[in-house]
Amino acid sequence: MSDLVVRRIPFEFPEDLQPHWNPSKPEWSQMVNGASLVMPYLEPYLIQCIRKGLSHIDDPELRAVAKDYCAQEGQHYRQHKRFNDLLIEKGYPELREHEEEMERAYARFLERRSLRFHLAYAAGFETMALAVGHWLVDNRDYLFGESDPRVASLILWHFVEEIEHKNAALDVYNAVYGDYLYRLYGLFYASFHVMALSRRAYRTMLRRDGTWSQWRSRVRLWKEVVRFFRQILPHMVRCCNPGHDPRTIADPAWATEWMAAYRDGEQSVPLLDTHNLRAPLTSAAAHA
Ligand SMILES: [Fe+2]
Ligand SMILES: [Fe+2]
Repeated sequence: MSDLVVRRIPFEFPEDLQPHWNPSKPEWSQMVNGASLVMPYLEPYLIQCIRKGLSHIDDPELRAVAKDYCAQEGQHYRQHKRFNDLLIEKGYPELREHEEEMERAYARFLERRSLRFHLAYAAGFETMALAVGHWLVDNRDYLFGESDPRVASLILWHFVEEIEHKNAALDVYNAVYGDYLYRLYGLFYASFHVMALSRRAYRTMLRRDGTWSQWRSRVRLWKEVVRFFRQILPHMVRCCNPGHDPRTIADPAWATEWMAAYRDGEQSVPLLDTHNLRAPLTSAAAHA
């Protein structure tokens, strides 16, 4: 009853993988690594949010979508955790402290916040994730060109699936509450919360790299941050429309192609060619 595909992909993160996996963009590499560090704390929380919402939903179709949404998120955070553990071992032990703080922060949400907050946070985060997914796919040459294909493939897999499940969390929020202003509150709260957690992590990593205090590095970082906001803000503003329905936002053609090529719950890694990220995708080519 759900069109979502739960892909269990055997990604590998061997020892030779470098934290600066995009050598020409070390700051961008750390921005992504910082966001990756948040996923094993954020995504289990999102799953809990949606599971709590499920007890108020009878519609079998929406229940099926919500369950597959949780299964996709479960795959995402498990893969990120493996990648993050390797990063930490590569010389960033202080990130363990961030992990403990994030674990406590999301546990506090679950203890103290209302179901309305949980569902608005999940719907809000997913709105941002959809914007980020479009940005990553549309700018994949610039962001991932000539980078380590193992990391590029991990991140683009994750965000293609964010595009794929774009309406799940909002449908759950609307089915249980549907309150417009509180949805906006959830959107801003979740977006700023996740961005702040990511920033803390990449700041720690750049400090450890010794580049946080170098002005050239800071300028490169700010250029990436400005590019990010310039691209995702118009999308976020569109989503503030009271009648917003993610189904009306067309998926990027490449994302649709990716989903079609990998729709068998993959048992192999859809490794991208980062020398040519415009190459047509077929599961056969990827499996060869
Ligand atoms: Fe995810
Ligand atoms: Fe998601």
